[in-house]
Amino acid sequence: ANVFTIGLLGAGNVGAQVARTLVEERELISARVGTPVKLIGVAVRDPETPRDWKIPGELLTTDAEALVDQADLVVELIGGMETAGSLIERALGRGAAVVTGNKALLASRGAELQAIAAETGAVLRYEAAVAGAIPILRPIEESLSGDRITKVMGIVNGTTNYILDQMDTTGAAFADALAEAQKLGYAEADPTADVEGHDAAAKAAILGTLAFHAPFTIDDVYCQGITEVTAEDIEAAAASGYVIKLLAIAEKRAEGAILRVHPTLLPRTHPLASVRGAFNAVFVVAENAGELMFYGQGAGGTPTSSAVMGDLVSVARRLRGPSAEAPAISSEVELPALPIEQAET
Ligand code: HSE
Repeated sequence: ANVFTIGLLGAGNVGAQVARTLVEERELISARVGTPVKLIGVAVRDPETPRDWKIPGELLTTDAEALVDQADLVVELIGGMETAGSLIERALGRGAAVVTGNKALLASRGAELQAIAAETGAVLRYEAAVAGAIPILRPIEESLSGDRITKVMGIVNGTTNYILDQMDTTGAAFADALAEAQKLGYAEADPTADVEGHDAAAKAAILGTLAFHAPFTIDDVYCQGITEVTAEDIEAAAASGYVIKLLAIAEKRAEGAILRVHPTLLPRTHPLASVRGAFNAVFVVAENAGELMFYGQGAGGTPTSSAVMGDLVSVARRLRGPSAEAPAISSEVELPALPIEQAET
């Protein structure tokens, strides 16, 4: 069978885990796709940088463009606008599929990149761009495509949720909690994007675009971060049964859609109030479905790599031909399983 080739751009927190999965779990991923899948290169700025997972030396390259020109599917995990943007354009321009987690780029140039993809028949997927491991974009785009979404409201930034949670539960200082979030690999390269709310605003624009079928950008989102939230605010909120969360809200009103990110007082009994640490949750309201909630790890290399790999497998399946419509059912586990009486939960 033809080998389906993957070029990976970037080997940071998420990229290193994607490389690890593609190398260590190559057989599993190939079986899931139904075609042998091969990681043909990992483009990095400096091959000597120590990484969370040691990438085999023969895969490392500094020539991202050459890699983009060879791969059937390009995974972009460099982040940032300039380099990442031109490499994605280059890949889509030649008809290669692109999987990315680049929320900032999508929130400002998403429509333009989709237009390039439409022209060449390429596919662009970005589940990892919003709420890390949580499958939220595909449910909005596909599962709810026969309904009308009226509201999306979520905790979509792990770093700020971690900071607010630490301040609330341990009385930690803002700066210490932020340093810890950085150490745990949740924060952006420049954590200003997290604490000022820009990262959540980019995600709000992406969610609003998909939920309301209109091309919003980050400039359409009102944005206030958590830098002015004090220990006193958090204490006062707690004393009256509330918790402060940074929420991203996209809401359809008669006059049009409203997109906003700001610290919000939530009653402690609200489902979003129980979202702790770097976890995220997205609450969706649709006319017929009613209320839905999606919960999971919103940041961190390994959880986020799951969303990247899901896009990769799904795109690769689609590209390997019409016979790939239904996911292959192979025998990954032995049948029969344990007799039901012996199965413990
Ligand atoms: N810095 C982001 C966060 C990473 O803290 O949520 C996931 O997009």
